[in-house]
Amino acid sequence: MTKKRTDKWWKDAVAYQIYPKSFKDSNGDGIGDLNGIREKIGYLKDLGVDFVWLNPVYQSPNVDNGYDISDYQAINPEFGTMDDMTQLIEEAHANGIKVIMDLVINHTSDQHPWFLEACKGEDNPYHDYYIWSDTAEKPNDWQSIFGGSVWEYVPSLKKNYFHVFAKEQPDLNWENKQMRESIFRMIRWWLDQGIDGFRIDAISHIKKSSWETKARPDWPHSPFTNVKGIGKYLKELSAVFKEYDIVTVGEASGVTAEEATEWVGNDGYFNMIFEFEHISLWQRDKNEAVDVVGLKRALGRWQRALDYGEGWNALYMENHDVPRSVSVFGNDTPQYRARSAKALATMYLLLQGTPFIYQGQELGMPNMTFTAIDQLDDVTAKNQIKDLLGEKDQATKTLEILELMSSVSRDNSRTPMQWDWSDNAEFSTGKPWMAVNPNHKTINVAQQRVEKSSILNYYKQLIHLRKTKEVLVSGHYVDYLPKHKQVYVYERFLEKERLLVIVNLTKDEAEIKLPQTVVGKDWSLLLTNSVEDKSQQTTVIASKMTIAPYQALVYVHN
Ligand code: GLC
Ligand code: CA
Repeated sequence: MTKKRTDKWWKDAVAYQIYPKSFKDSNGDGIGDLNGIREKIGYLKDLGVDFVWLNPVYQSPNVDNGYDISDYQAINPEFGTMDDMTQLIEEAHANGIKVIMDLVINHTSDQHPWFLEACKGEDNPYHDYYIWSDTAEKPNDWQSIFGGSVWEYVPSLKKNYFHVFAKEQPDLNWENKQMRESIFRMIRWWLDQGIDGFRIDAISHIKKSSWETKARPDWPHSPFTNVKGIGKYLKELSAVFKEYDIVTVGEASGVTAEEATEWVGNDGYFNMIFEFEHISLWQRDKNEAVDVVGLKRALGRWQRALDYGEGWNALYMENHDVPRSVSVFGNDTPQYRARSAKALATMYLLLQGTPFIYQGQELGMPNMTFTAIDQLDDVTAKNQIKDLLGEKDQATKTLEILELMSSVSRDNSRTPMQWDWSDNAEFSTGKPWMAVNPNHKTINVAQQRVEKSSILNYYKQLIHLRKTKEVLVSGHYVDYLPKHKQVYVYERFLEKERLLVIVNLTKDEAEIKLPQTVVGKDWSLLLTNSVEDKSQQTTVIASKMTIAPYQALVYVHN
């Protein structure tokens, strides 16, 4: 069947997220860079991805690894030059891979010329590009997402400026039309360089409540997250995007499935958004199991909200802000790491939407076991460590902190990509800016490339499935057994095509009872992460089935 599958290229696509600092270093300074990415285009092509999202590569003092931008129209020299960027875009395009960039427009760096000007005085034209208190007093006790007050005092002005994230990331004032025009000019400039779209950072924070608003007790960031009235600015922004044939993916914490069509419907602000409902379920105590019912509920809600052409989902289980998915949603013990990584991949890559794979996820890279405080780099990790350590550096406390960080820190997903088993995992010939996970001796691309049953090859199979089965792109979604505590069962269907996905998300065997609509003789097993288990290689789906730990089964209706 060679019918045109969708109206938009990005609906058929599989995306890959690159954290440039940790992907591939081309010049031996220990820092990943643009030319390093260029070296690996062949790898991306072989994996089957259609576009890449690059985390910020703009000029930045790197307080928050590039999310504090000091010049939007310059490349950070540690990543290369504008020429390198142009070449990367060209070469990616020549290989059929599109490139989208991170767009950080809720805030800038405190080193951005606009902010430096803004601090010179109230008469400066850039003063109003940022958000200020009227007096020396802080207008409220709102807490920033990175900890501490959202207000930072500037003695020379006897006023405070507002920041949702670190104090080195002052928020831009979206109420200011000139500021918006400056941002829109910059956006057009980048799109004119030939990039294919943007992932828009922290965009649900651009509107703030009036200062006297109280934070919700269960949600300290409510006064500046998805605040009523934000649509006015998002509409203006999307009008700029619509001048181009691009893809836009908004990072939209606090946006609920009920609001989904407003954000990503056919007239929505973005083509897709990264919602936070399912990913926030990773936070669990050490021994607590994954909330399988909650995960199905959250994912299912978004699937249903955007079904029937009303919008489009961005599918993801991992990114640079959360620990590794195999460690939190899967199981990173030697017995189950590979199998659970494949189970998770099966579960989310076959849902409706455009899947995003975060670098290393396709190898089942787990969290890092940090062994020294100075191995941690992330600004939020450092703040947390400072609070926990207090005045004294006690050895026992240090051990506890390292244990905690090895499970919760964003640094877990920022260790260098593991290309092979050599000393620095072929990431760099110099000293990597961040410690390489010692497990690269066994978990790496070189090895998984040749091993037929590797996680990497399993990802390739899943990507190939998406490319060949129309039902996976345009098909609808229905799930069964929503209350089952271990197994996720859903079906994708389109006209006569039907595909059934069964995934056990726990380390215990599970019994399931399937509904009459799927029980029957007409199925064949298309893909599984447990080929050695012959019992499921059946064409008959029985009403009762036993699903092995982390087993994933994909059946197609004949
Ligand atoms: C987003 C980014 C995160 C960054 C924050 C502030 O959440 O994904 O990495 O720290 O915005 O820009
Ligand atoms: Ca480098």
